[in-house]
Amino acid sequence: MEIAAKMVKLRKMEMILLLILVIVVAATAANVTYDHRALVIDGKRKVLISGSIHYPRSTPEMWPELIQKSKDGGLDVIETYVFWSGHEPEKNKYNFEGRYDLVKFVKLAAKAGLYVHLRIGPYVCAEWNYGGFPVWLHFVPGIKFRTDNEPFKEEMQRFTTKIVDLMKQEKLYASQGGPIILSQIENEYGNIDSAYGAAAKSYIKWSASMALSLDTGVPWNMCQQADAPDPMINTCNGFYCDQFTPNSNNKPKMWTENWSGWFLGFGDPSPYRPVEDLAFAVARFYQRGGTFQNYYMYHGGTNFDRTSGGPLISTSYDYDAPIDEYGLLRQPKWGHLRDLHKAIKLCEDALISTDPTITSLGSNLEAAVYKTESGSCAAFLANVGTKSDATVTFNGKSYNLPAWSVSILPDCKNVAFNTAKINSATVSTAFARQSLKPDGGSSGELGSQWSYIKEPIGISKADAFLKPGLLEQINTTADKSDYLWYSLRMDIKGDETFLDEGSKAVLHIESLGQVVYAFINGKLAGSGHGKQKISLDIPINLVTGKNTIDLLSVTVGLANYGAFFDLVGAGITGPVTLKSAKGGSSIDLASQQWTYQVGLKGDDTGLATVDSSEWVSKSPLPTKQPLIWYKTTFDAPSGSEPVAIDYTGTGKGIAWVNGQSIGRYWPTSIAGNGGCTDSCDYRGSYRANKCLKNCGKPSQTLYHVPRSWLKPSGNILVLFEEMGGDPTQISFATKQTGSNLCLTVSQSHPPPVDTWTSDSKILNRNRTRPVLSLKCPFSTQVISSIKFASFGTPKGTCGSFTQGHCNSSRSLSLVQKACIGLRSCNVEVSTRVFGEPCRGVVKSLAVEASCS
Ligand code: GAL
Repeated sequence: MEIAAKMVKLRKMEMILLLILVIVVAATAANVTYDHRALVIDGKRKVLISGSIHYPRSTPEMWPELIQKSKDGGLDVIETYVFWSGHEPEKNKYNFEGRYDLVKFVKLAAKAGLYVHLRIGPYVCAEWNYGGFPVWLHFVPGIKFRTDNEPFKEEMQRFTTKIVDLMKQEKLYASQGGPIILSQIENEYGNIDSAYGAAAKSYIKWSASMALSLDTGVPWNMCQQADAPDPMINTCNGFYCDQFTPNSNNKPKMWTENWSGWFLGFGDPSPYRPVEDLAFAVARFYQRGGTFQNYYMYHGGTNFDRTSGGPLISTSYDYDAPIDEYGLLRQPKWGHLRDLHKAIKLCEDALISTDPTITSLGSNLEAAVYKTESGSCAAFLANVGTKSDATVTFNGKSYNLPAWSVSILPDCKNVAFNTAKINSATVSTAFARQSLKPDGGSSGELGSQWSYIKEPIGISKADAFLKPGLLEQINTTADKSDYLWYSLRMDIKGDETFLDEGSKAVLHIESLGQVVYAFINGKLAGSGHGKQKISLDIPINLVTGKNTIDLLSVTVGLANYGAFFDLVGAGITGPVTLKSAKGGSSIDLASQQWTYQVGLKGDDTGLATVDSSEWVSKSPLPTKQPLIWYKTTFDAPSGSEPVAIDYTGTGKGIAWVNGQSIGRYWPTSIAGNGGCTDSCDYRGSYRANKCLKNCGKPSQTLYHVPRSWLKPSGNILVLFEEMGGDPTQISFATKQTGSNLCLTVSQSHPPPVDTWTSDSKILNRNRTRPVLSLKCPFSTQVISSIKFASFGTPKGTCGSFTQGHCNSSRSLSLVQKACIGLRSCNVEVSTRVFGEPCRGVVKSLAVEASCS
């Protein structure tokens, strides 16, 4: 009896505890749904600004700051893909550690008060090796990627379920009180699905129902998928998405990838996207009814290890994003977008209440008005013309609209923001060189601080194997390494017809890429590279008797985009022939018996990660010779700024710091000469190759080494140099935020958006004039000098400002007085302050200040 009573009491307590738990969860859990206008969180429609940060492209040590800078920039949501190849490098062997600690990343976003959009894919594209698929997937019997194929669907479902279960277990969905408000399945399948025929349709239907069956409690989206089945939200990706409409009137207009710049490829110039155009695209989207927009990328980061996609994606994935590769703010991009976000948020009540009423204000001129019954009103005025600025009349007031710009009027009267008028200062960033300080070195001779191991030319490993004919590379290496040796022995009698006098011949090689080195009898005879096709004719000398032809084929990132990208292949697939230089006969080598070796001997001995007694440190150090492993030790560059390694002097290879792969380097890959512009006109439609810089220069010489991978001294740098170079020329740099601020604000600029308060949307009437505001980047700094100030018609850009024909003589002294000694200052841009230097002209105030 007593026991039974105790049991009842215990049950009661259990019940109470359970109830408390339910109440706690219910209190924090959010109900996420959507309707025609927006995502709806706990019954309230939301205007959301999102930005992509891919967690493995930075380190966990960097995440908190990146997330904080995103929040400060006005983001509500962090978007990331999930990287299957990183999480399941071998089938059923999972990795959620370090840079792949997805749970930690999502929790950090939550801690900062941000939502998360989890794009599981698991195909992600993303300029990631093989589009994010682990390469073992290719070897699953009977598999066909991204179509109605049972083995593929089984694997896709298994991994997607794994991720959803992990998120659920950690209570990370909004429905459980976590930050994830949205998940994505597949990625841009609609761009290429016609190539997959009728099976595409059933695959997409299956993907949708598989995802839904996982019961996350939050909505799912599919991007670039016009036929996304209900209730999946089909979303838009592109440089502009204002013309996009979802496939149902019950779905909100959402933009999952607004490309903030573009990715860099080895051999390509660097793309950049002017912020005036990026802001224009965003404002146009919200003007035309959008309520969710994501910057792809907000922080691009680095393709460490061999994660970069391809072919030929660079190690840097900077993307010209608002936060640069190293985690520093890119100004004024970051600041101008922050202002834009504030202006959009000032319109939120009106935006979520209704569809816009769109009217024409003239040719290429458009007004969109969001007016609610309760009386709030927000308007967007656009000039989509690419040439002429315009003055428009709206509600009886006149507004100046530069070409290709949008003005945002949160009260339908006053301009809070114009996309082409920047109120944020330019702050430069620069690399400061630091010499590679050898650790504990005594001789002072730099070469002696290095040790080396020569990688054998040709076959050197026990697991080499023979096969007749030429093998495709990915099928052979399973991408365990970038390197595959194709080796052939030939007996030359001396009377062969393909030989010219002196045993000369031409070796003809065709390869699918991306790099080939040809060694004849142990000597480098020629090399070439290409994205998907290499064709080489190398004059060679053979000897009577035994000859070896050793071809080293190197991949530089596996393809990540396009229909059947998994099948494009790589490596030397032929023909390979020996022909006479004089055009005589030729013999086919492709069909011969080749010896194959996957990877390098030094990989097997673990040179990158474990110590070896084989390192040779006696001088001279061999340089400018192919296939050498190098090692040195160094002190961390002083300070706390992000660190880069400058590979100038080396050729191409892959490197490790303290055993961490910092990725491929290739400073000798030179960008083409065409297409660069000094100043790119932001007006008019942007395309990936519209604004390019760095033509004719190495695509990438500086490579990020995360600070957290360094100790103060005794750091080990190992590189495998494949081409031949001089590692002693390697240097380090730190990336610093500059101390110069530059800004030009005209009399037609709107006042700073901060003069609007979000609680009352009434503009402070005392502050209706434009203001030039400056703020030193660091809290320890003050403005110490004004290098330039001119109110009038100043010319030039930051660093080269000059006075125009009109200049107020008070400019410098007034700005000095307002700013010197302060961390931040505001100067009204008006004749009230500066007097009238020239009537009838719209004047600007340009200032260059420096902080210390
Ligand atoms: C999109 C794709 C992204 C990324 C982007 C280009 O098509 O969805 O994953 O590859 O292009 O950076």
